[in-house]
Amino acid sequence: MKESDRMSKVNDPNANGPKAKSTQGSLFDGPTANPSAGHDSTHTDVVARIAELRKTLDQASYQYYVLDDPSLPDVEYDRLFKELQTLEGEHPDLVTQDSPTQRVGAAPLSAFETVTHEVPMLSLDNAMNETDFTAFYERVSGLLNKPETIRFACEPKLDGLAVSLVYENGVLVRGATRGDGSVGENITLNVRTIPSVPLRLQLADDETPPPVLEVRGEVYMPKAGFEKLNEQARQKGEKTFVNPRNAAAGSLRQLDPKLTAKRPLEFCCYSLGRIEGAQLPEFHSAILQQFGKWGFKTNPEMAVVDGLQACLEYYEQLAQKRNDLNYEIDGIVFKVDSLALQQRLGFISRAPRWAIARKFPAQEEMTVLEGVEFQVGRTGAITPVARLKPIFVGGVTVSNATLHNMDEVERLDARVGDTVVIRRAGDVIPQVVKVITEKRPAQTHSIQLPKACPVCGSHVERIEGEAVARCSGGLVCAAQRKEAIKHFASRKAMDIDGLGDKIVEQLVDEGHIESFADLYRLDAQTIASLERMGPKSADNLVNAIAASKQTTLPKFLYALGIREVGVATAQNLAQHFGDLRVLVRADQAALEAVDDVGPIVAKHVLHFFSEPHNQKVIDQLVALGIQWPVVEKKSADELPLNGQTYVVTGTLAAMGRDQAKALLQQLGAKVAGSVSAKTHALVAGEKAGSKLAKAQELGIEVLDEAAFLALLEKHGVTP
Ligand code: IVH
Repeated sequence: MKESDRMSKVNDPNANGPKAKSTQGSLFDGPTANPSAGHDSTHTDVVARIAELRKTLDQASYQYYVLDDPSLPDVEYDRLFKELQTLEGEHPDLVTQDSPTQRVGAAPLSAFETVTHEVPMLSLDNAMNETDFTAFYERVSGLLNKPETIRFACEPKLDGLAVSLVYENGVLVRGATRGDGSVGENITLNVRTIPSVPLRLQLADDETPPPVLEVRGEVYMPKAGFEKLNEQARQKGEKTFVNPRNAAAGSLRQLDPKLTAKRPLEFCCYSLGRIEGAQLPEFHSAILQQFGKWGFKTNPEMAVVDGLQACLEYYEQLAQKRNDLNYEIDGIVFKVDSLALQQRLGFISRAPRWAIARKFPAQEEMTVLEGVEFQVGRTGAITPVARLKPIFVGGVTVSNATLHNMDEVERLDARVGDTVVIRRAGDVIPQVVKVITEKRPAQTHSIQLPKACPVCGSHVERIEGEAVARCSGGLVCAAQRKEAIKHFASRKAMDIDGLGDKIVEQLVDEGHIESFADLYRLDAQTIASLERMGPKSADNLVNAIAASKQTTLPKFLYALGIREVGVATAQNLAQHFGDLRVLVRADQAALEAVDDVGPIVAKHVLHFFSEPHNQKVIDQLVALGIQWPVVEKKSADELPLNGQTYVVTGTLAAMGRDQAKALLQQLGAKVAGSVSAKTHALVAGEKAGSKLAKAQELGIEVLDEAAFLALLEKHGVTP
């Protein structure tokens, strides 16, 4: 189940029925007006049931959003949520602000009020490189006159917005932005919609909350949510956000909390603002631990290390992991862990002397758009690609970046000659995210979509309501043919060893192959005639092509290159229908009954199998000997890993993590994002980090790659 699913359920503003709208209950529908108020025992039952429901729902939300380890099936959550809504609707006097039904529903504001931070929210000094950081370390140790090593808390520097949350007697009463550090904006209604913000502290049975507690942390948008939001915006022809931080800021500064509620925001805490009526622990790291107990999300990558060398190593390790994290970070914050030492070091202007942010290389840079070319993809999609004045960004030199489609070009108002902002985040292809119109020179050229396909000359279509323009040439177009065949041969598809991109291009260019089926008709002589191909490699390739005939139905389906059918969807289709002949005849409704298949994907599948030339290619492939073992259709509880939760971490040599997850799911397992007591086993590839440590600590079974492959093989699954 996807996070967004529950997000939309929990946060669906319409989920609050009209009865639940009043949060306070008016004088006229108080206890005496309440039909059940006369019956004391019933009323007590209702009070108890409401308390129980809130506790269960809060716990489930906490497991889901803070621990990333769902404990309650969605349907059950929804059922209990509805029950609570109904009870609260019948007993408005029992509605409290910290009820899980009350996250969303408040009316829009006309403006934010300002709030003054009792303790200013400071910023951090930056260290741009190792030299800067070493100087910082030495300065700290000099100031402390402390020759022995200093203990640091190391935390990823989340790239979002600093937010302060105030709790009075354990209940959230105020959320505020940092603003200028002294005065921020009151965004209470908006932070309340963020599921990982506790509306009240989780307390042990005999624990009393501090009268006042201010927790500080970062509100951010995870990468996946950001990509999805931008993709939706692109499809609707709306403006996209430049990066997750801007998206988080824009979402949090909505005057209508219902809009904020729809955005995938998270909150992770990183420091204490103030606390009254409680003893402070000795270390900053202990404060964070306490926050974790109260139900806040803390960063699982955070570590406490001793001395300069260990700090430098932590930086290197996290820099390696940066792209794999599901949220963006722009550096590491190092904080002296001892509160006593922090106090001795004090502050200078607006930053503490006891902390520093060691920054990562920037992921956004400016450069000049020198030209635009149009590329044709596997499905005929025509993508404008920006040719750039080479620029170093995100750790590499970039000279091309995608402009996505013509709608995006128009939205960006990009022209050749413009100065543009390029973003390269992790392994994501570089993108043009913004045009600096202020820097536009007098002479620029507009960007026009070609009328004819730059590869085959066929007519270019731009279907009404679709952002993407397509070449109408289908497999007549060499570009589409090449891309389709490359995809067909790729590792997750037919896995033809040795059939690289260059060879496919030559084979198509020289007219040896036109369709997938032609691959299986190639002989060694033809292949040996290609440039840089010896007889030995030609033989090997012929053998590899022959070996690929023995495949699996999911791989075959994926290889066909049906639009929007990736590895996971192909698995689901194969599992659901069992037999290709049944799938080919399935109608829209039957297709939509498949897990994760919505109306659009169903339409693509339907369209694909109704095309006569696709039917012909499939028949030819089967006639040429492509075969797969029969897929047994099993109901969920018959699947071998049903009821078991797995976590996948580290790098696997045989497959990516997504494929590992898809295979586990195919066997009936649930796949979670983090290790907990509920985890059945951890699949740990190379360079497994904190998840491995956690599994070992909890005594959870750890499968290395060999053991994982053995498990798959035991259940008849091959990657
Ligand atoms: S500590 C006095 N810890 O970075 C200490 N800040 O330039 C102040 N940030 O405004 C902040 N992750 O928005 C701290 N683990 C972390 C952080 C973090 C991100 C942001 C925060 C702050 C800015 C400081």
